[in-house]
Amino acid sequence: MTDQTHGAAVRLDRLVQRYRGSDRAAVDDVSLDIAPGEFMTFLGPSGSGKTTTLSMVAGFAAPTSGRILVDGQDISRLPAHKRNLGMVFQQYALFPHMTAAKNVAFPLHRRGVDKATGHARAMDALKLVHLDHLADRLPKQLSGGQQQRVAVARAIVYNPPVLLMDEPLGALDKKLREQLQIEIARIHRELGVTIIFVTHDQEEALALSDRIAVFNEGRIAQVGTAKELYESPATLFVARFLGDSNVFTGRVDPDGRTLTGDGWTLHTPPAHHIAASSHAAIVVRPERMRVLDHAGSGPTPGNVLDADVVDVVYLGTHRRVELRFRDGGSGAVREPAGKESAASRGDVVRVTWSPEHSVLVPEHR
Ligand SMILES: Nc1ncnc2c1ncn2[C@@H]1O[C@H](COP(=O)(O)OP(=O)(O)O)[C@@H](O)[C@H]1O
Ligand SMILES: [Mg+2]
Repeated sequence: MTDQTHGAAVRLDRLVQRYRGSDRAAVDDVSLDIAPGEFMTFLGPSGSGKTTTLSMVAGFAAPTSGRILVDGQDISRLPAHKRNLGMVFQQYALFPHMTAAKNVAFPLHRRGVDKATGHARAMDALKLVHLDHLADRLPKQLSGGQQQRVAVARAIVYNPPVLLMDEPLGALDKKLREQLQIEIARIHRELGVTIIFVTHDQEEALALSDRIAVFNEGRIAQVGTAKELYESPATLFVARFLGDSNVFTGRVDPDGRTLTGDGWTLHTPPAHHIAASSHAAIVVRPERMRVLDHAGSGPTPGNVLDADVVDVVYLGTHRRVELRFRDGGSGAVREPAGKESAASRGDVVRVTWSPEHSVLVPEHR
């Protein structure tokens, strides 16, 4: 597209949203720095404050307190239409009586761009989402996925430095969602626009984002790359929200290198962030654990636990060995195809993993 803009930096500075009549803040002191051109995803369960935060950035809801800065400029008091941000929502919200091209050109006409230029730029935007051949169709003559492409074209046609997307793929089936994820990633690359993308779908977040902010109860529980969040979750909530985990709760021993629970002691990397003697949990991802071939045989890299095999589920690329540990907790080991152990349902096995794959987190929150 012509006159391409670059992405803007977005800063959320201690944002609070307290809806009238509600005793709990829907957004409770959220601060976040988003780099120019970054793809930032808000991920969290329903009701965790993602949409409310995005609405404050968009200008649909005034913050109870806190500020929003775009490239250092405080936009908190500007009306939505003066913020110059692109927006795409789950519902396509196209004008039903306008063709795709007219829908896309609409924001330009509102900005005083003449008809011919507006049409040319709308066609460029439609080209970017691979829909220029359907420019003359009405929304009802387009599929859901195509309508959402039109909505994306309309949001980017005026080259906004920031694009806000609230569950834009939520209404589409899985296959279409994956196709559009690829399209959105490509548009992000080609335009260099900053994107704030809301989803409750962890796979979508992992596939698209430079960084992810995990929301829980109106707060950001953790911000990081997909790898950081998955491999070093800061809390039990984050560990459980992103992927599967085995969780063991106990008490940190005085040396800070082991956690002791009901009949077991497990090694962790030195825990500087969690005080000795406090209650804590160890999180271990299922692919980091190994089932020992026969009780006790083979090398044991640090941690060993006994478990009953509750079930073995074949999943093509891997199989899942469902376990009940001797302290009553349940969990699983993920075995890649070709590296399966001999474990089958009803067996008593020993599982092992290296201390470096024990992630120590506070027991609560
Ligand atoms: N207009 C509103 N008035 C009162 N409460 C609201 C309003 N919108 C959202 N809430 C509440 O604020 C909390 C956060 O909602 P929301 O931001 O929509 O979450 P999410 O997008 O993460 O699902 C929820 O408890 C929700 O019920
Ligand atoms: Mg929402």
